[in-house]
Amino acid sequence: MIKIGIVGARGLSVVGAIKAMPDDAEIVAMCDLDEGALETAKAAIGKEDLQLYRIYGDMLEKADIDAVVISTPMQCHVPQAIEALQAGKHVMCEVTAAVSMDELWWLIENVEKSGKIYMYAENYCYIPEVQLVRQLVKKGFFGEIYYGEGEYTHDCTSLRNWHGKTGWRSYWQMGTRGSFYPTHSLGPVMQCFDDDRIVSIASFSPGNHNPYGLRNDDLTQTMCQLASGKLVKLRVDTISPRPHAMAYYQIQGTKGCFETSRLGGQSMIALDTDAERQGCYVWKPLSDYNEYLPERYKSGAGEGAGHGGGDYYIVADFINAIKTNTQPELNVYKAAEWTSVALLSQLSVTNGGRVMEVPNFRKNMSWEEKRIKL
Ligand SMILES: NC(=O)c1ccc[n+]([C@@H]2O[C@H](COP(=O)([O-])OP(=O)(O)OC[C@H]3O[C@@H](n4cnc5c(N)ncnc54)[C@H](O)[C@@H]3O)[C@@H](O)[C@H]2O)c1
Repeated sequence: MIKIGIVGARGLSVVGAIKAMPDDAEIVAMCDLDEGALETAKAAIGKEDLQLYRIYGDMLEKADIDAVVISTPMQCHVPQAIEALQAGKHVMCEVTAAVSMDELWWLIENVEKSGKIYMYAENYCYIPEVQLVRQLVKKGFFGEIYYGEGEYTHDCTSLRNWHGKTGWRSYWQMGTRGSFYPTHSLGPVMQCFDDDRIVSIASFSPGNHNPYGLRNDDLTQTMCQLASGKLVKLRVDTISPRPHAMAYYQIQGTKGCFETSRLGGQSMIALDTDAERQGCYVWKPLSDYNEYLPERYKSGAGEGAGHGGGDYYIVADFINAIKTNTQPELNVYKAAEWTSVALLSQLSVTNGGRVMEVPNFRKNMSWEEKRIKL
């Protein structure tokens, strides 16, 4: 039985999934600075003997836990992950992984040294529709994928304050220039490019016209060049006044393409096998291809969980990674690569769209190689 402690109230998104695995995992402790949040959590988890902590270090020291789910604000992620790893706990950590490049190196070093599981909780990668597209990519329906787009357009301005005070989102999402919250958009698209990695990025913005006095530009567009020479375009926009389109994706291959709707309609696919003739491609609903959805997503196990069930499957993979003692697919290297796009995009946009090299986090790098190259 894997015993789990959660830090940060958003971690309650894992409760349903863990309750659905009563033989494998249980939540035994919860930590939050806010006592009200602790009481809400206790009611949501429905466990009389749930151990409650306000100080994170106390939970790590006193609670009998094997793993922590870190769901605190972004700037807490690396310090709390390292503290947990050094205390011998496995970690599943919310997005984004870190708020500085140095933190990314510390995180990797600590994961490697500890031998513990680190899972990056990029739940959008687990949305069943995303998994369906990934399956179609693997089966070759689109031919060779050479271009992708991901967008996160979510007006978060109403969330910038916390209990009437300037909250963490004001600093780390809307107060920091660049694509500071990129991985919901990048993760699902990058999964369509197999093991390709991002080697350089350049970010551009239309400037700052919002009425809130926020430091970030109204939006940032980032171009990501992959090692293969292929291209991914990313828009992160947490300020513009427009309806949510939190998960807009597009991929283009040599035999067809896929696109979600920014306007709330259904996702569509156009393949050469459905084309009337060369050059006359037609859109068909992605749901016409539902039979290719991987079996686990057909089971309905994730029904009711957030992000179309994604919040269930990600926990299932975390538990499985611990049980099999194998780093998950969303490992610390992917966490670092995708998060570094945010950190380097800040440098790019503040340097007039300068191209920034993305380090290869997957290999052992020397101190010199870790230097950010301007
Ligand atoms: N994956 C997703 O879909 C998704 C959605 C929303 C938020 N997030 C991520 O989840 C994290 C939390 O976001 P949120 O919207 O719930 O934030 P929030 O500000 O609403 O809640 C954060 C909670 O953490 C607690 N907290 C802060 N510092 C703490 C500390 N040092 N020790 C213990 N508790 C502490 C706060 O009291 C609060 O209850 C962020 O990293 C965010 O990026 C992910």
